[in-house]
Amino acid sequence: MKIYVFQTEKELDTFVGQHIIDFIQENEKPVIGFATGSTPLGVYDYFIDAYQNKNVDFSKVVAFNLDEYVGVEKTHPRSFATAMRDSLFKKINIKDENIHALNGKAEDMKEECCRYDREIEDNPIDIQILGIGMDGHIAYNEPGSPFDGGSHVVDLHQESIQSSLDYGFDRIEDVPTQGVTQGIATIMKAKQLIMMAKGEKKAKLVKRMLKGEVSEDFPSSIIQRHENVIVVLDKEAAKCLKEEDYERC
Ligand code: PGA
Repeated sequence: MKIYVFQTEKELDTFVGQHIIDFIQENEKPVIGFATGSTPLGVYDYFIDAYQNKNVDFSKVVAFNLDEYVGVEKTHPRSFATAMRDSLFKKINIKDENIHALNGKAEDMKEECCRYDREIEDNPIDIQILGIGMDGHIAYNEPGSPFDGGSHVVDLHQESIQSSLDYGFDRIEDVPTQGVTQGIATIMKAKQLIMMAKGEKKAKLVKRMLKGEVSEDFPSSIIQRHENVIVVLDKEAAKCLKEEDYERC
């Protein structure tokens, strides 16, 4: 596992953005897993700038979203599909037919999860962008999610519901109480994971994720078992790590 700590958010976003752009440029059919949330937004802005400056072509990129709210249409203003479209997809030349997402409004959610896992099996993810939730989740794999599980429906924990207020919901009562997510086994099949964390509020969680016991009680700790992980942190998120644990960039 490589752990890089950046002095500024901009340097961090540039590093991740350029790493992925290099991969896109070097590959015929790059398959990228995208995360919602506030952490990767600067990377998405970097992609948009690079596209506008004609430095990258996204037309051959295949995209998979990580998760979605259950009971929410993908066109709903607060859906994760809308968040990805508004923050990135509608501003670059990715093809609509190459964007894959879980449908939170599917009639049969079990079948929807199997369909999604099959799609990912047919298009293995090369690079998966990840963030860490305030309860240690990755995607919407809440504490207790099985490490060997595929995509599935979950009851959202209070911390996740609370965090959703940052994503534009006005009232806590409006936040869906269930999510549908790529499973941990699905995520672990990605060839490379890029785990991003920013800000002091993530510092203790980052230490638990990287140095604590690998346990289903703290789902993001599973990344310790992946053979190709890059962890990118700003200096605030790295506050609880020892200097010798990471490379300063
Ligand atoms: P955040 O969310 O990027 O908004 O902190 C991360 C997550 O919940 O996975």
